Amino acid sequence: MDWGMKNRLSRIIRPETGRCVMLAVDHGYFQGPTTGLEDLRATVTPLLPHADALMLCRGALRNCVEPENAPPIVLRMSGGNSMVRREELDDETITVSVEDAIRLNASAITLSIYVGSPHQRQTIANLAKLVDAGERYGIPVLAVTAVGAELTRDARYLGLACRIAAETGAHFVKTYYCEPDFDKVVAGCPVPIVIAGGKKLPEREALALAHKAVAQGARGVDMGRNIFQSEWPVAMIRAVREIVHKGASVDQAWEIVRESGAK
Ligand code: R5P
Repeated sequence: MDWGMKNRLSRIIRPETGRCVMLAVDHGYFQGPTTGLEDLRATVTPLLPHADALMLCRGALRNCVEPENAPPIVLRMSGGNSMVRREELDDETITVSVEDAIRLNASAITLSIYVGSPHQRQTIANLAKLVDAGERYGIPVLAVTAVGAELTRDARYLGLACRIAAETGAHFVKTYYCEPDFDKVVAGCPVPIVIAGGKKLPEREALALAHKAVAQGARGVDMGRNIFQSEWPVAMIRAVREIVHKGASVDQAWEIVRESGAK
C-alpha cells in the first residue's frame, strides 16, 4: 500500500486503536428520505464530533455538511437503483467519477456488491473499476456486501461475499454481523472488516451487536439506523465509541445511553 493510501486509511481506521466508528448516512441514495434522515443536516451535525468518518453520497455532503466541520469522508460511488424497484436493487452502476471524489477530498470511496444476485457480475466489475481508480490515486475502497432479500446472512454467505470483495481488491469491507461463526468470516477475509448495524434494534441490543462483532475481530462499525433512528443518537454513538475504542463492556456502554434517559 502506498503512502497516500495508508495515510487516507489511517484517517478512518484510527492508528491509536486500529479501530473505527464510522457513521453511515448514505441510505437516501436508494431509499429517499429514510426515517431519521429527512433533514440530514439536522440529524448529522450533532453526531459529527463523535464519528471517525462519515459515509454518505456527494449530494448530501455538498448540501448538508460544512467543509470546515467534516470528519474524514467515505464517499458512496454506486447507485442507479431505488426502493420502487425492489427486484432490481442489485442493478447498480458507478455514479461518481474518481475526480469528483478527489475534489471532495474523500478519504475513501465505497460501493455495494451483490454476490449471488442477478447482477453480481456487474457489481463486482464496478468494484474492480473503483479499485483500479483508487489504486491510481491512492484512495482506499470500501466494499459493502449488500444482501438481497432472498439470501441468508449466514457465515457461509457473508464469508464468501467478503472474500470476493477482498480478492477483487477492496481495501476494507463492510458486512453484517452473523451468528454463529462471525469470527470465521473475519478469518477468511485478508482485509479489515467493519459491520453495518442493520435495522433499528433496542439500544442495548445494538450495543451488544457492536461488542460481539469487535470481540470476534471486526475492526469497528459503520453504523447508521441504530444511531440516527435512536431517541438518543449522541449517547448511542458515544456508547459505541466506548466499546470500539476503549474495550468497554455492554453494561458500561449502556450506562451512557441510560444516563440520557433510555430505559
Ligand atoms: C445501505 O443503505 C448503506 O450502505 C448503509 O450505509 C448501511 O446499510 C449501514 O447502515 P445501517 O447501520 O443502517 O445498516
